[in-house]
Amino acid sequence: MRRIALVVGTMLLGIGAVMAQQEVAVQQQNLMKAQGKDMYGVFGKILKGEIAYDQAAVDAALADLEVQVTKIATTFTPNPKQNVKDASFGASQKIWQNKSDFESKIPPVSKAIAEQKGKIKDSASLKTAYDAIQDKCTGCHDDYRVKLK
Ligand code: HEC
Repeated sequence: MRRIALVVGTMLLGIGAVMAQQEVAVQQQNLMKAQGKDMYGVFGKILKGEIAYDQAAVDAALADLEVQVTKIATTFTPNPKQNVKDASFGASQKIWQNKSDFESKIPPVSKAIAEQKGKIKDSASLKTAYDAIQDKCTGCHDDYRVKLK
């Protein structure tokens, strides 16, 4: 009886750990999706003409982006060792082998955002800002984001 309880207990612990790791992967992905929402859901859609230029929406997205970026280092501290189920993108295991290099890709994004604050007034200046910020997002994605499908 005790042995069965032990086996069941160990199995449950194993399932718990897998779920926790999936949760970590989801949290990391959600942080990126939040940034994607600002960049592609707001800036990108305005630039493509899918939604009208809206100064309040632009300012709110830039302010949100600035906050989200500061969360990258801590959100990517635990290694989930797995990808989000059925996801299009995953985190490379290289992140946890070169954590300081990974983190060195964050300040350039913050700097690019800070430099654009107060400068976005219309679609033309939004395009300049978008390109400058996107370039720094890509600076990390090229090394540490894996395309899964
Ligand atoms: C320091 C590294 C780093 C920086 C900087 C970074 N990202 Fe990411 N990003 C990642 C990693 C790692 C992933 C893969 C994780 C995942 O999607 O589960 C990712 C994935 C994404 C995804 C795909 C999410 C999905 O659907 O799976 C989007 C969108 C994204 N990032 C947007 C951005 C934007 C916009 C910026 C710049 C404002 C940015 N990221 C800056 C590391 C970074």
